[in-house]
Parts: sequence; C-alpha cells; structure tokens
Amino acid sequence: MDERQLLEQQPTGLLIDGRWRDATDGATFAVGDPATDQVLAEVADASPEDGDAALAAAHAAQGDWERTPPRQRAQLLRDLFDAVIEHTEELALLITLEMGKSLAEARGEVAYGGEFLRWYAEEAVRAYGSHLPAPGGNGRILTVKRPVGPSLLITPWNFPLAMATRKIGPALAAGCTAVIKPAAAAPLTTLRLAEIARDCGVPDGVLNVIPTSRAGDVMSPLIADERARKLSFTGSTAVGRSLLAQAADQVLRVSMELGGNAPFLVLEDADLDAAVDGAMAAKMRNIGESCVAANRFIVHRRLAEPFTAALAERMGGLRLGRGTEEGVDVGPLIDADAVDKVHGLVTGAVGAGAELRVGGQPTDGPGSFYPPTVLGDVPPDAEVLHEEVFGPVAPVTVVDDDTEAVAAANATPYGLVAFAYTQDVDRAMWLGDVLDSGMVGINRGVVSEPAAPFGGSKHSGLGKEGGAEGLEEYLTTRYVAFPS
Ligand code: SIN
Repeated sequence: MDERQLLEQQPTGLLIDGRWRDATDGATFAVGDPATDQVLAEVADASPEDGDAALAAAHAAQGDWERTPPRQRAQLLRDLFDAVIEHTEELALLITLEMGKSLAEARGEVAYGGEFLRWYAEEAVRAYGSHLPAPGGNGRILTVKRPVGPSLLITPWNFPLAMATRKIGPALAAGCTAVIKPAAAAPLTTLRLAEIARDCGVPDGVLNVIPTSRAGDVMSPLIADERARKLSFTGSTAVGRSLLAQAADQVLRVSMELGGNAPFLVLEDADLDAAVDGAMAAKMRNIGESCVAANRFIVHRRLAEPFTAALAERMGGLRLGRGTEEGVDVGPLIDADAVDKVHGLVTGAVGAGAELRVGGQPTDGPGSFYPPTVLGDVPPDAEVLHEEVFGPVAPVTVVDDDTEAVAAANATPYGLVAFAYTQDVDRAMWLGDVLDSGMVGINRGVVSEPAAPFGGSKHSGLGKEGGAEGLEEYLTTRYVAFPS
C-alpha cells in the first residue's frame, strides 16, 4: 500500500463508545510529516465535552468488561496481537510518516508493541489472589485482585504504537476500560490501532480514543472526575509532576514513565567493540528520541580515545533522510523546536570546551533533521550532560576509575536506566547494586522488553510497565476476612 492510499483510509475521528465521531465543536488539527513539513491528515480535535463523553462511555462499559471472563479478555488481546502483526506494513508506514523513524525501525516498533498485547493476553488469566490462615487462628485472610476501573492513558509521540499497547494491554487484561489520549504530534497510529481493536471485537466503550490539541483543557477535568480511577502517563517529568498534583484530588492510582538521563559506562576492562555496538543501539534507537536513550557516555581514560573515535566513525557513517527511503538509518526529529534544542545543547558543550568529533550542524529544510553527533571530552558541567537530549547526540566524558564512573552516573535527579560495559562478573554484580536507576543494562544497549518491568526511580517516575508488575498497576487488592 502506498502513502496516499494509506492516508485515504486512515481514521481521523474520535472513537467514543465504539463510534467514530467528529469533535462536538467541529474542530480539527493538522498532523504533519517531520521529514517534509507537509500535512498528512486533519484529525478531529477533542473538546472537553468529547472527553467527558469518552469517560462516560468507559465508565458505562466498566461493569460488563470486568465481568467478562479473563479467558475471553485474553482471547481478544491475543486476536488483537495477531491483527497488529498482520497489519505490520501499514502500521509501520504510519509510524514513519508521523514521527520520522526509518521503516526498518518502525517495523521493529510494531513487533515490540505487538508483544505487549501477546504478553498481557497471557497475563490476563494470572491475576492471582491468596489465602492465608490468620496467625492467631481466629480467621482466614482471603485476597482477590479487582480491576482499578476506568483508566486515563496519555501516550507520547516517540513510540506511537508501543506506548499505546504497553498501556492498553495491561488495562484491558486487568478488566479496566480506557480512554486514551495519543500525542497530538502523532495520533494516526493509535487511531488505526483502535480501529483494528474494534474490528477484533473489543466491545463498545472499552477503548475510547480522543486525540486533541487542547490536552490540558480536555484531560484536567477527566483527572478531576470521580468516574476515572487510574492515570497512566508517559512523557516529560515537568508534565508528569503537574499531572501527579492534579491526580491527588481524586487520589487516582498513577503510573508515571517520565524523563531520563541515562549514563552509559565503559569501564577499564570493557570489550571495546561490544561497547561501541551497545553505544550505537543505546544512542541511536529511535533517533535518540527515547527516554531510555544513552544520554552520557562515561568512559575510562584508557578507552576514551579509541571509544570516541570508533563511535564517531560509526555515527558519521549513518545515512540521514526520510524514513520511507531505502537505506535511511536516521530520520528527522519531531519538529523544528527539537532541532533548536538539540543544537543549543551541542553548541553549549562546544563553547564549554568539548571537542566536536562528528556532526553538529542542522541540515537545511524542509524537515527537522539533525545529524548524528559525537562530542569528545565534555566537561562535567556542560548542560548536555544534565538535560535529556532526545536526539542523536553522544557526549563522551572521561573518568579515572569505577568509583568516579558510578558517582558521575548517579549524579542526576533522574533514574530510569543505566548501561554499563565490563567483562568482570563481580564488577557487573556490583554495578547492578550501586547504579541508582529503575533498570540497569549490563553489556547491552537496549533493555526494553515487554516481559520485563520497565520503569524508573527518582524523577523518572512511579510504577512499572511490562512484566507481571505491569498488570498490577491496573489491579487493586481486596482483602476479604472470613471466620476460621
Ligand atoms: C520511551 O522512550 O518512552 C520508551 C522506550 C521503550 O519502551 O523502549
């Protein structure tokens, strides 16, 4: 299918209670292609009234959905997984068009995103409770897992499919209905996913989708509404903080996947080639536009020069272009503001004394392209080491021993993921203990895995997505007391 055909059949409405609708006030917003600056589609722009209708639908559907046998919910999710995989080419093209990554990477996202549906199809029947005799012999302690209830899911633009399935999968598996608000920059994939879910038989009202350019106006009243019982958000720490404050009023259950500042440690004994391979994956997956992208390379002095040279060579050899083109490795950033921010961090670092090894110059328009860039010997106070770059920039900083490396790695309010390369098993075990983050990757540059608990510590968030833990985020434990 070509782009034109794909966009002609693309749903662009709001999905509320199983029906596609326009916004009540008729508003639409444009979704653009960051590689060409052309408009791809006009999408219905949900108003606060539409948000209210979506939550009403989710609330009305909650009772029937939570009473639907887990095996039946599991089968629907499994059917959805099969359908997503069947639609890989079309979903991948949508992802590439609306957020920019190469088609090869977008296909990878469909496989990754699909796996959340398969995993939670398998977990839907495993919401275990427990039974314990009271220690005093005077009762029985029974626990049962109950769905939390209608869930508000707010997803980012960087993985438009996988971040949606990572929330929809466990919510539906647990017996929760959902209202999902995809990012305004990339809502098309989620809309298509919702249509596929409807075709698979997900009942009306169980999954509602409200793209909007008026996020605050639409979501704040929903977060304050007692019909909602759960809020799951992936995005920046600044927005997460504000949502957490709003969620406090209704004491909502919350899951927050927030910003990162991932360190990538190369210790003195690391295998250099493996470390460079890992660095490429950790930095360049998703054009660096990921909260788990390596943000700072902390390298032992003995390996600093060969590591930086090899990384610069590999980064410099990547091909920049529109993600739909054959052979393109690196697509555009999401918009011109992202390019300005990334370039500001690079020029700031160079001004502070860093060495520009490759890249460093935005390309002329159209499109929001920034070349893969490596900065050597970056001074510790350069802003690029303290801000989430969200782009293809690798700053290398030099340390003299393991203690200094770990101290540098932990010197951040963020704690999402840390990567480390060493060939010594004792050091690896030690790193797993002392790196202060929710996830640690040893001798690998990607930790993302639907069967594993993804999530951060400190300012990187609360709660886990993926794994058995991800289901728990949508369940509440009820204790039922019985006589002995
Ligand atoms: C993210 O960048 O928000 C998530 C990335 C992942 O799941 O690997």
